[in-house]
Amino acid sequence: MKLKQAQKELQTKGFLDIPTDKIDYIAEINRLRKEKNAVILAHYYQIPEIQDIADFVGDSLSLAQEAAKTNADIIVFAGVHFMAETAKILNPSKTVVLPDLNAGCSLADSCPTSEFEPFVKAHPNHVVVSYVNTSAEIKALTDIVCTSSNAKKVIDSIPKDTPIIFAPDRNLGDWLIRQTGRDMLLWDGACLVHEAFSIDKILELHKENPNAEIIAHPESERHLLKVAKYVGSTSGLLKYVQESDSKEFIVATEVGILHKMQQLVPEKTLIPAPVEDSSCSCSECEFMKMNTMRKLYLCMQHEQPEVIIEEKLRKRALKSIERMLEIS
Ligand code: 13P
Ligand code: SF4
Repeated sequence: MKLKQAQKELQTKGFLDIPTDKIDYIAEINRLRKEKNAVILAHYYQIPEIQDIADFVGDSLSLAQEAAKTNADIIVFAGVHFMAETAKILNPSKTVVLPDLNAGCSLADSCPTSEFEPFVKAHPNHVVVSYVNTSAEIKALTDIVCTSSNAKKVIDSIPKDTPIIFAPDRNLGDWLIRQTGRDMLLWDGACLVHEAFSIDKILELHKENPNAEIIAHPESERHLLKVAKYVGSTSGLLKYVQESDSKEFIVATEVGILHKMQQLVPEKTLIPAPVEDSSCSCSECEFMKMNTMRKLYLCMQHEQPEVIIEEKLRKRALKSIERMLEIS
């Protein structure tokens, strides 16, 4: 409620309507960062300009770790809402701003508290492991948070005879069951972006480029993960293309990662994996792409929209994030 209110206030004040065509965003963002002792954290799915101006670009885990140790007064989170919320849970006294409060996540939305709470209550002996792509309310119902970088490590840390609930991603959960040999109870959620890939088109593309290695994020469906040479988080995928002898890759994750990837391996050919929808040739996260340089500048200028979390809820959610950071 408070978040919606903050956004409404921002719109009422007219910040989003300021004519800014003459503004040099790069210079202004650099000035504001210095003046306000702000740090800009960006996910690999952000637009190239935002990745290039950020102090730190990373995957969900490294962004949470960076947020946990920052000395900045303001954390500017160029990512989606659950990421900025995690930063705020870890830094209650700091101002955390997100360029667009509407930057949500289809996966986080697939796990509403009203349905998850009774599900957890119905399975009292289970340890609850939730992917970081969840709301603060879901984290408060969770024992240990994980990201795709440390999920296997988190599951392996739980005693073998303890039953586990894994939420909300059914594809990551299914992949983890196969990786760990643990029989987990899965929540039936998914990411629209990673389920949009067309296996037929990918296999066709592979026929045309037989030397290319298919690499995929574990939020993708089982049939795609089965044909992938490597499955991993965004940082895992970036590491893999640097270490592999292969010169060509078909990359099955959000297309924004290709910016950093191409910078790291300029001599290699990177082909975005095609999606089912014939009107576009790659998979874009509409939420990640809501952040623009203009909105980044405005949120730094006005320190709005701010991520606010009620203290009782923050404390309950913090425990599960701290458990993850201890294990990582
Ligand atoms: P990573 O943790 O691999 O960066 O993934 C975040 C995400 O939202 C994937 O869709
Ligand atoms: Fe959420 Fe999927 Fe976008 Fe990642 S790519 S932020 S999981 S909707």
